[in-house]
Amino acid sequence: MATRRPFFCGNWKLNGSIAESLALATNVRNGVATLRAADVVVAPSFTALHAVAKRLEGGSSGPVAVAAQNCHFEDKGAFTGEVSASQLADVGCKYVILGHSERRQLFGELDAAVNLKARAALRAGLAPIICVGETLAERDAGETLGRITAQLDAAIADIAEADLARCLVAYEPVWAIGTGRTASPAQAQEVHAHIRASVARKFAGVAASLRILYGGSMKPDNVRALMAEVDVDGGLVGGASLQAESFVRMIKEGS
Ligand code: 13P
Repeated sequence: MATRRPFFCGNWKLNGSIAESLALATNVRNGVATLRAADVVVAPSFTALHAVAKRLEGGSSGPVAVAAQNCHFEDKGAFTGEVSASQLADVGCKYVILGHSERRQLFGELDAAVNLKARAALRAGLAPIICVGETLAERDAGETLGRITAQLDAAIADIAEADLARCLVAYEPVWAIGTGRTASPAQAQEVHAHIRASVARKFAGVAASLRILYGGSMKPDNVRALMAEVDVDGGLVGGASLQAESFVRMIKEGS
């Protein structure tokens, strides 16, 4: 059985000046400096990416990598207001969060766009963190697993096995994001196992090592129970990643 290294990404969403982002990133880096058991990533706003990536690069106190929260699917051209994956790589990003439910719900992002973005990210050498998740109405209607399969299949369509090996998947139930209402460990495990099995049907070799993150009101006091589930490999963390102290405590609890 593959051992999967725990992976925690703080999604800072639309928060933070450059100075605030640098302070938070520095405190996270210092807080996990002696930790060798997990991959740690922070995802600032576009405006702070370059400064934070510079602050975190190299360094003897243990690397913390940088993710962007979105990218465009074309590499360049007349796309006013967009940022390409290669531009993100240029400022020092290693990862990009794609298909977050806030983008899907608030900005009309469709499954097909998530797929194009994932392929653009892979072309640029970034590792996509592909988000999937059901709404409360879908869960109540018994549609959770079907919804997840549809989102996942669309997102990874036409991605080769070697490229999929560079991707991560984040299960973020929409009803658990920013609500304080976490999926129970059993609810998370059911969906995570389903994701792994879906990937295994296509690419058995990748499925066992694919890291599947949970996101949705993950906190220092619930991370341990979630991480105890066999298919929960880490977290995509919103609110609790905005304070270095709680993010670091969570990573330590969960690793
Ligand atoms: P919260 O941790 O604030 O619920 O946000 C989760 C999330 O959306 C991470 O991408």
